[in-house]
Amino acid sequence: MSGLDTISLIKVKKIVFINFQIQKKLNDMTKLTSGLIAMMISGATFAAPEALAEDGGVKVEHLGVNNTLVRVTGDGKYLVMPVQDNIDDAKVDILVDGKLDKTIYVRLAKSKVDYSVPFDLSQYKGHDVALNIVTSQGRSSVREAKEDACWKNFSVSDTFDTTNREKFRPAFHHAPLYGWMNDPNGMFYKDGRWHLYYQYNPYGSKWQNMTWGHSSSSDLVNWEHHPIAIEPDGLGSIFSGSCVVDKEGTAGFGKDAVVALYTSAATSQMQSMAHSNDNGETFEKYPGNPIITLESEARDPNMFWNEKTGEWNLSLAHALDHEMLFFTSPDLKNWTLQSAFGKGLGAQDGVWECPDLFKLPVSGTDTEKWMLICNINPGGPFGGSATQYFIGDFDGKTFTPDLDKDGKVPTKWMDYGKDHYATVSFSDTPDNRRTVIGWMSNWQYATEVPTMQFRSANTLPREVGLFKASDGQIYASSAPSPEVDALRDGVFKKASKIGVGKNAKSFAIPGLSEIDFEIDPKKAQKVTVVLSNGQGEKVELTYDVDAKTVSFDRRESGVTDFSQDFPAVTTTPTFSDNGKISLRLFIDRSSIELFGDNGRFVMTNLVFPGSPYDKISFSTAGGNADIRNLTVYNLKPTTL
Ligand code: FRU
Repeated sequence: MSGLDTISLIKVKKIVFINFQIQKKLNDMTKLTSGLIAMMISGATFAAPEALAEDGGVKVEHLGVNNTLVRVTGDGKYLVMPVQDNIDDAKVDILVDGKLDKTIYVRLAKSKVDYSVPFDLSQYKGHDVALNIVTSQGRSSVREAKEDACWKNFSVSDTFDTTNREKFRPAFHHAPLYGWMNDPNGMFYKDGRWHLYYQYNPYGSKWQNMTWGHSSSSDLVNWEHHPIAIEPDGLGSIFSGSCVVDKEGTAGFGKDAVVALYTSAATSQMQSMAHSNDNGETFEKYPGNPIITLESEARDPNMFWNEKTGEWNLSLAHALDHEMLFFTSPDLKNWTLQSAFGKGLGAQDGVWECPDLFKLPVSGTDTEKWMLICNINPGGPFGGSATQYFIGDFDGKTFTPDLDKDGKVPTKWMDYGKDHYATVSFSDTPDNRRTVIGWMSNWQYATEVPTMQFRSANTLPREVGLFKASDGQIYASSAPSPEVDALRDGVFKKASKIGVGKNAKSFAIPGLSEIDFEIDPKKAQKVTVVLSNGQGEKVELTYDVDAKTVSFDRRESGVTDFSQDFPAVTTTPTFSDNGKISLRLFIDRSSIELFGDNGRFVMTNLVFPGSPYDKISFSTAGGNADIRNLTVYNLKPTTL
């Protein structure tokens, strides 16, 4: 939203306040007169008189200790609802001309307003709208209930201010303008645009009211925000799913229709369908929903067209059974269960969610392999959520995993940080690319991270590849998508060789930066790279040459005390044999992504430093090492 909107909102608030004062003094004047006086005082020449009413455009009637009716009396595009982040949800029934239209859950402010969220009234133009609110706050009397902060802070407005005021809001990662986000899902590419949907709560910055939010981009780094794509309905809220471009129109919605499958989640979880004939801007739900029902919890349908078999394939997380189910279909509507994979295999300590299945060439060979992504929560290598995967073959019906030299199915992880989850790929990508995005958080503490107006961002887009390591196993690499280079805004520092020993050598870095370098450990046993700021906050990266690992210590990285699970050290194998490694670090306001050896090892971790890290230091233990080809780029903020 533009600065103009911000100013308008401030003006509207000011008008309402001034108007309130005048009302008190001139209580014999009509509302309309006082509204006009207020407009003259503030210099404003807009806003309908009703919106200026002393009550902010709403009439509040307390019906009982925990039941209040808020009638919309003003005219405007939004009903702005005041939220307190850490209290329980109120159940809000939206009544339109007296009939229940929908129910949403909002943490309506009790003792303070942390932020506000807009409820779109334009859909109900010309109708009477009232909110029948049931709060769950403990109170002894209606008199006490009347004191709640929310009642005097509802307002009707034509604008809603989404200007960022938070220092931890990412500058170059996709994040919602406001509200809560988890899994990226339903991603597809069509006609030069990358479409990204995500699990979204438009009415607060914690998980609730699951809806598909929508953003799109022509370059994978600048994101445009679109209206909500798929909203909850009578079958439940809208959990994760996938989209495909149905090129031949097999589903009967026309050639090139975008077809979405998602989980309808209420008492049960079932799979539903919707389609879009306007490139994913709006979706129409299929009247025959749900299209897949099972007797146990299953979710996050992920489909693709299988060229070889000439059928659609679908993977579905059989969450509590810790396995993935595979289906086939000729038309995206009628699905036949073919097989299940995973029971007892890989990491099993949490629910299996958000599958993805695709074929990739193995670099340096002329073979192709299938990669099955099984996000799991909890049970990740460092606690909480993480993305495991299996390599194998898929014949259109059954997935057969590769075995290690002991005849076992190995457990593999796409990212060895704590903040990489629900990773899935875009469908219908150009040039056979396999581009993925992950949710940059962890269910252990995602709802508690120190942000308010929004919660959670996505990782940078990444290109997945396969490589064979010296243990004979095939692993997945994920390197930053080439488009990410466009974030560079000049070279801040360059050095072809820096000799380092046990005394640290330090250099300044910009707050938003990409830092690329190689480590030639020579005689060193450990090479330590520290990112720090003047407040003594730091992130310590240690390359253990003999162990062939890189660790990421964020225990003193800044604000860490919002959850006991946040301070942590994460460690990744390097899959490298000659000792030399290359690193690419991307430092945003509240995240660091580390890509090693072109994505052969990756760590994504959130950090919340009091001020940006402005220094990088190198030191070693056990001998001297060389840092080669150091380039520090200044990165520019993107449109978010
Ligand atoms: C993964 C997940 C999915 C589900 C969604 C609900 O983070 O639990 O399995 O569809 O979140 O928001």
